Amino acid sequence: VTAEQELALELAEGLEATPANIERVAKETSPEAARWAFGQWQLRRQARGKFALAERMLFTREALEQASHEEVARYHASRYPEGALAADLTAGIGADAIALGRRGPVIAFELDEERAGYARHNLAAHGLAAEVRLADSAEADWTFDYAFADPSRRVAGRRTLDPEAFAPDPVELAERMRRLKLGGLKLSPMLPDEFLESLGGELEFVSFGGECREALVWLGTGAEIKREAVHLESGERLAAREDWAAQADRPAEFLFEADPAAIRAHGLPELCGRHELELLGDSNGYLTGSVPAESPWMRRFEVVESFQADLKRTKSRLRELDASVEVVKTRARGVEPERLLKQLRTEGQRRLTLCAYTVGKRVMFALVTSA
Ligand SMILES: C[S@@+](CC[C@H](N)C(=O)[O-])C[C@H]1O[C@@H](n2cnc3c(N)ncnc32)[C@H](O)[C@@H]1O
Repeated sequence: VTAEQELALELAEGLEATPANIERVAKETSPEAARWAFGQWQLRRQARGKFALAERMLFTREALEQASHEEVARYHASRYPEGALAADLTAGIGADAIALGRRGPVIAFELDEERAGYARHNLAAHGLAAEVRLADSAEADWTFDYAFADPSRRVAGRRTLDPEAFAPDPVELAERMRRLKLGGLKLSPMLPDEFLESLGGELEFVSFGGECREALVWLGTGAEIKREAVHLESGERLAAREDWAAQADRPAEFLFEADPAAIRAHGLPELCGRHELELLGDSNGYLTGSVPAESPWMRRFEVVESFQADLKRTKSRLRELDASVEVVKTRARGVEPERLLKQLRTEGQRRLTLCAYTVGKRVMFALVTSA
């Protein structure tokens, strides 16, 4: 950051990006510095949800979108031993490098000059002095035992799910990481199991803020062959089980909506086993049971009633119950929540949630309340 940019940042702080304000700052700096500074303040505001110190950091729009949330980055870093040298092979604006740096020494690699500069600035803003190399980590000598990589999943600014288009190549990274003490790869949880499993490591699906944020593949001598979901807020873990869990066509007293990471990790049989629950139909996400089980892995609802999907019948039941549907949740293909909400409009006082799911070819509705 030049002295002029720094001054522009100071002058633009707290100002709306109106033409008059931009011109005022430009007069004391330059038009480029003023535009840059107002752009940074806008990105800083957007970054507040990801970083406690967002207002001292620098971003590019795309690098901010790609950056790990600081709590998620803290989890990545927690897998590496305190004090050991670790490399961030894809620094971006430095979110993972910062978390690694709080734990011990870091070397960060970044191919893009602007991002490498911002990563340096952001590390310093967190009181950390790590080395950021403007270099290709895939070509570099790996003089460390621990590494983390979050390959770019964009081609010309657009997201892609084609691993061959990721940079650096995750297959090559995995190959090299297998020889480390621990290598971590952050990937999209939307990638198919076959691809993630082909990398040959420990698989984790991360739940944060109620979403499945990412798939992590851990390789090296410190990784085990297993598959789990990790719930960051509670620290709970849920192992995959490929075995059978009982299935019910209709919900009992309680319906539970499983966390997306639990579903993605194939953790539902384990969840059923822990809480004496059954899978609800073919929903792959709703569970049911007669005890009010509590778990960070699922949201509980009390069941009012359930029946085969039928608009007329549902509407007349809603009237009899003096109820209206406030939210439609669906785990049934072809059921569009917005449309169904309109079709089921009633004036009833009791606010209910409708959960749609399938049993074979039949679509089922369950009317539930938060419990
Ligand atoms: C998804 S972003 C990483 C975001 C970062 N983990 C964070 O939380 O801020 C991927 C970054 O890797 C960089 N990159 C891609 N290929 C690289 C390579 N071979 N060596 C170093 N950096 C690379 C890209 O420029 C991009 O900034």
